[in-house]
Amino acid sequence: MALSDADKNNVKEFWEKLGENTGVYGTEALERTFSSFPSTKTYFAHLELSRGSAQVRAHGKKVADALTLAVNHMDDLPAAFSSLSDLHAHKLKVDPINFKYLSHCFLVTLARHHPGNLNPEVHASLDKFLSIVSSVLTSKYR
Ligand code: HEM
Repeated sequence: MALSDADKNNVKEFWEKLGENTGVYGTEALERTFSSFPSTKTYFAHLELSRGSAQVRAHGKKVADALTLAVNHMDDLPAAFSSLSDLHAHKLKVDPINFKYLSHCFLVTLARHHPGNLNPEVHASLDKFLSIVSSVLTSKYR
């Protein structure tokens, strides 16, 4: 699976509309992931995970900033994400299924805040984008 030029445009245009709010959406996506798929919390046992906690907010912003970086590097993701991939696969050993949970929660969050901008084509492109980011981050798993 690869992103077509139309997918890349859809993702870029949509992301630009998020403006300064990406960190807030990253945090909501994480909180939804922890609530809807509680097994994901085991990876974050060292953090204070209560709703709205400073650590969840800080991490939500880091995840969102990494996704912004990915939007700006859609043509060279493996290189741009090489060290993040080492972190998630080799060091943290995050099972790939968890990326599906987080991606799903990210999409739900974006749909909730930007219903008018998430038409079916944009939805499909964002889904492909998140899935490619996830494959890069899990490519070194095992
Ligand atoms: C779109 C997918 C994801 C992105 C873009 C992402 C991005 C990041 C970033 C940027 C960091 C911080 C790295 C640093 O501080 O140097 C991080 C750390 C981490 N990630 Fe991810 N991540 C993703 C998915 C996941 C998933 C699915 C899990 C597990 C359920 C996970 C678990 C962790 C953990 C445990 C840390 C370390 C937290 C800490 O000690 O502060 N990540 N991730």
